Amino acid sequence: MTPRKPPSIIAIDGPAASGKSTLGRRLAEWLGYLFFDTGVMYRAVTWQALEDGIDVRDEAAVTALANEIHIDVRPASDLDGRLCDVLANGIDITWESRSEAVDANVSIVAAYRGVRLAMGEQQRQIGRRGRVVMVGRDIGTIILPEADLKIYLDASATERARRRYEELQARGVQTSLNDVLSMVLERDRIDSTRDVAPLSVAADAVLIDSDQLTADEVFEQVRRMCE
Ligand code: CDP
Repeated sequence: MTPRKPPSIIAIDGPAASGKSTLGRRLAEWLGYLFFDTGVMYRAVTWQALEDGIDVRDEAAVTALANEIHIDVRPASDLDGRLCDVLANGIDITWESRSEAVDANVSIVAAYRGVRLAMGEQQRQIGRRGRVVMVGRDIGTIILPEADLKIYLDASATERARRRYEELQARGVQTSLNDVLSMVLERDRIDSTRDVAPLSVAADAVLIDSDQLTADEVFEQVRRMCE
């Protein structure tokens, strides 16, 4: 009997702070695949817009920016906890792209059709090569509907806010659990109600609710699907 091949294109979608990156990174490492967190692209466009003084409500200006910006994702150059380096037009914005200002505006930027077209095309090119774990909101539904394995990772808003709050605390960011919860709920609302590629569960996705699961347990479940 020939052994079953592991899935080559793996899509992980789900709401903010559901543990997609943690799962995706571990899975990619285990399989020897490329890990690609598509959220960093929308974060980079948002950071650049704020940096350039562009009003994020100005769809035309933000779309023009998305078509011009050069985003690069490289292996981590520093042992400061980053998963990778994120560069916007040559500038390292790895941590800046995770700031509260970017958190508060990224869903507005990611809802624009032109922004999604520009980012989606690049994501598709990378994903179609295979041997990739791609993480986002619309990977299994829009970007790579042909993915061999689709995971939709969910958790309650309170649990996700708690996790994100702990992450921020560990990075020394001053905030309150309540503020983080409000931000998570607002981002969920915009991400799942937008016209273009809203956050939704692909019909053929495996749904995992991680509320009662540790990161190890989630990884184990998905690892077994890849054997
Ligand atoms: O890490 P977290 O789950 O909080 O967010 P992220 O994955 O970095 O994504 C940030 C934002 O980018 C999301 O809230 C979405 O608005 C947008 N996004 C998207 O629209 N489509 C994707 N494939 C990835 C992110």
